[in-house]
Amino acid sequence: MTSPLEQLQAITLERVNAALNHCLSAHADANSLHQAMEYSVLNGGKRVRPMLAYGAAMAVGDINTDTDRAACALELIHAYSLIHDDLPAMDDDDLRRGNPTCHVRFGEANAILAGDALQALAFEQLTQLDHTPAQQALQMIAKLTQAAGAQGMVAGQAIDLAAVDQTLSLQQLEQMHHLKTGALIDASIQLGALSAGASASQLTALAKYSRLVGLAFQVQDDILDVESNTAVLGKRQGADQALNKPTYTSLLGLEGAKQKAAQLYSDSLDALSEFDQRADGLRAVADYIVTRRY
Ligand code: IPE
Ligand code: IPE
Ligand code: MG
Ligand code: MG
Ligand code: MG
Repeated sequence: MTSPLEQLQAITLERVNAALNHCLSAHADANSLHQAMEYSVLNGGKRVRPMLAYGAAMAVGDINTDTDRAACALELIHAYSLIHDDLPAMDDDDLRRGNPTCHVRFGEANAILAGDALQALAFEQLTQLDHTPAQQALQMIAKLTQAAGAQGMVAGQAIDLAAVDQTLSLQQLEQMHHLKTGALIDASIQLGALSAGASASQLTALAKYSRLVGLAFQVQDDILDVESNTAVLGKRQGADQALNKPTYTSLLGLEGAKQKAAQLYSDSLDALSEFDQRADGLRAVADYIVTRRY
């Protein structure tokens, strides 16, 4: 018997990787820009945001090709955010998913442009929804726009960069994590649920779950930066400390951060209490988010 996590992972990898391959090949070109885009999307990655989108769709209804479009769009935004996050002007990292970062492999200009192009390609996916009624389709587009932009991920990244060498309060740190990582995770769950016809009350309950797992995801990322190793992580261990970034571990210590992650996990299960076993995929991803080793 496969576990709910294994089931969800299998569905996600098959469906989202097919969608990503398809949309990238539609723009296929032998130039370095296109190579840099493929390099940064089709090089592994846990596909956690697509897993959350499929898990949310399953919790409220059935996965369909609009769920695939949404999952693909979310992963494209994520891939773009990682390319830019690694740039010399940002975290200046040379290793990602066990490979040289995009700018190391293709040069800074191509990396910047590949990120830009992936972002546009993400929104193009949402112009191709087939089943979702217009009002919900617009809600999906609005949600992703807000999560990706200056009210979401980009705002969080700006706070992150401004906070180097600063001490943030716990509240400020939490706000930064909600924006830089939580916003796109929330969008993943909402878009997946909308693609499967979620009701307003289901969306509200799922938003509680997503706020908790979104924060947990970045808390675990901070923990792994301290206690994992470069070979397992596929990115440089200790990168946050090297840049003196404010993180959950720098503020609460390793044990404090672990307690925080465990509490967020347990609260996220409570937030799903009104859902039946069809939300077991989402329950399993919450566990995965705080127990993953990379
Ligand atoms: C890393 O994200 C960046 C953060 C938002 C913390 P992931 O850990 O999901 O990276 P991949 O996609 O699996 O490489
Ligand atoms: C990245 O956070 C968040 C986004 C890309 C939006 P980090 O800078 O902690 O991610 P890693 O550790 O480099 O993957
Ligand atoms: Mg960063
Ligand atoms: Mg980084
Ligand atoms: Mg990190």
